[in-house]
Amino acid sequence: DAYDAGEHDSFMHKEMLEQPTAAARVISGRLDERFGTGHLGGLNLDARELRAIRRVKILGCGSAYYVGQMGATLIEDLARVPADAEPASEFRYRNPIVDPDTLYVAVSQSGETIDTLLAVQEVRRKGGRVIGLVNVVGSAIAREVDGGIYLHAGPEVAVASTKALTNSFLAFAMLAVQLGRVRDLSIADGRRLIAGLQALPDQVGKILAGEDELATTAQRLAEAESLFFVGRVRGFPVAREGAQKFKEISYRHAEAYQTSELKHGPLALISPEVPTVAIVPDDELVERNVAALHEIAARGGPLVVVTHEGVDLGGLSCERIVVPANERELDPILLTIPLQLLAYHAALHLGHDIDKPRNLAKSVTVE
Ligand code: G6P
Repeated sequence: DAYDAGEHDSFMHKEMLEQPTAAARVISGRLDERFGTGHLGGLNLDARELRAIRRVKILGCGSAYYVGQMGATLIEDLARVPADAEPASEFRYRNPIVDPDTLYVAVSQSGETIDTLLAVQEVRRKGGRVIGLVNVVGSAIAREVDGGIYLHAGPEVAVASTKALTNSFLAFAMLAVQLGRVRDLSIADGRRLIAGLQALPDQVGKILAGEDELATTAQRLAEAESLFFVGRVRGFPVAREGAQKFKEISYRHAEAYQTSELKHGPLALISPEVPTVAIVPDDELVERNVAALHEIAARGGPLVVVTHEGVDLGGLSCERIVVPANERELDPILLTIPLQLLAYHAALHLGHDIDKPRNLAKSVTVE
């Protein structure tokens, strides 16, 4: 079938706007409202096997790695199982310790990224168990894993991943709830998260509907040679993904940092020429985040703050981008959507080839 961008100027734009429907697809039939859990048949793991998992190691490259970091936090928050993400490209070169009680999770839109595939093979060679979060059905990684969660995002053409990343986050959320529910996550908390997941596709749509306003902000950011993206804990992988998108399609230098680490180095670079995009969800870190942003403002650094309604920024001079509130654990994906729009509109303003940024490929299938 012919797949084209239709009325959109790029596949990236089309794929961003498809996110509400794609998100609805990945959760469809996989939420158990009655028991407040995920219903992920493709994992090939029964409750006892899920219960025996002592650690989760997530492997992916590029945006798949950043969403893996978001996923690790979800799993630690909801299941209280130690979890971390690592670039798949690094993993096999450090003679990794593969432990039979660890669940390995490979994340890949294409299912063909060579570094991720070889990492999967290294785990399996050492007797580890791997599941895949993969979009392309029947791809190399999908064939190699012990089970998994298909992302059902539909075809993704633009190099900058949007809907596959969003669906990976939702897949992680369902996995985290399911892992949590065989442990100490209560049925009430499980139901709370299931309801949050159900509300999410429409909330993504609401953010996308605010595109025109964000375009003006993006055009201003596009004028800067260098930018910071900052966030903490759940907000940090969001900042990393935001910086990644911005640099890959606008060709501006964009660096992600933990807001808490600004004072340990990057503050030296803050000036009226260096804007910061700050992720400030309405969570337990809000006051500390706001205090750090005042340090930026005091040095004349322009600020764009991605936050929730009602967050008190203490008179900070900044542009505010508001996303809808959901359950705190699910905030990262809603905070990510405006960053996609900022990167896209910056690149559009600068006249770049949005779908095929220079020097980059959609999937890297050779080492
Ligand atoms: C390339 C693309 C990135 C993508 C990464 C992983 O580097 O430019 O946008 O995130 O590969 O791709 P995958 O298909 O494994 O998710």
